[in-house]
Amino acid sequence: MTELERNFQKFKKITREEFFIAEEIKKHVEIKDTDTILDVGCADGNLSKSLTKDSTNITFLDVDEFNFSPQEKFIRSSFEEVELGEKFDLILSSHVWGHFYRNNTFGFCFKKAHDLLKEGGKLIVVHNSNKDFTGKLIEFSKTLFDQIEFDVFLDEFLEGADYEESYFDVNLKAETFRELAELVQVLLVVPDAIYYSKIEEMTRFLEANLEKPEFAINQRLLVIKKKG
Ligand SMILES: C[S@@+](CC[C@H](N)C(=O)[O-])C[C@H]1O[C@@H](n2cnc3c(N)ncnc32)[C@H](O)[C@@H]1O
Repeated sequence: MTELERNFQKFKKITREEFFIAEEIKKHVEIKDTDTILDVGCADGNLSKSLTKDSTNITFLDVDEFNFSPQEKFIRSSFEEVELGEKFDLILSSHVWGHFYRNNTFGFCFKKAHDLLKEGGKLIVVHNSNKDFTGKLIEFSKTLFDQIEFDVFLDEFLEGADYEESYFDVNLKAETFRELAELVQVLLVVPDAIYYSKIEEMTRFLEANLEKPEFAINQRLLVIKKKG
């Protein structure tokens, strides 16, 4: 296992991010047991599974391999390439738009998601807003690393759309600033060797800018209705 994978598991455990994302979605979207859901960039699928009683109503999609039970429908493909012969009541796309942005397929994926919705269907987007301290951290990280993979959503695609938005925080808390610096790798997705060669600089930046080794990661939920 790489340090990035280890830090990712630790990050998920500390922040309980999936729980807070699911709570926010449930507050804003009425999900019926019969709704069909496409989970784009599903990873282990825990987020969409926590939204509905019957996981056989979910089509799980990820470009990487993940373990699902034989009753569950998992498709290993990129969203860009997948051909789906059905439309969905809900499409969940959580922390995945940064990938489309870097693949230069953001617009293509936004239209594809819209086309894959049934009439009255909803596209659910979750992404880090990069407001507050996270934004400052990203700006500093750009000075340390040539390439970082932070979350992105392009608001220009919301023009003319029928949508609701809400913001919520997920707290990232460590015992020490060094441990926090390790967990921050997850927000930047920098490979181990490169990241750990700058870990002292990252630790000092966090120490200089935070009172305690913790900060809130502000996230936005967008619920975008299919246009009639
Ligand atoms: C940060 S994880 C988010 C996992 C989960 N949706 C969540 O919010 O906890 C991003 C996931 O998107 C997947 N992914 C990246 N590019 C993708 C693409 N082009 N098509 C489908 N999945 C993709 C990755 O393999 C990864 O599992």
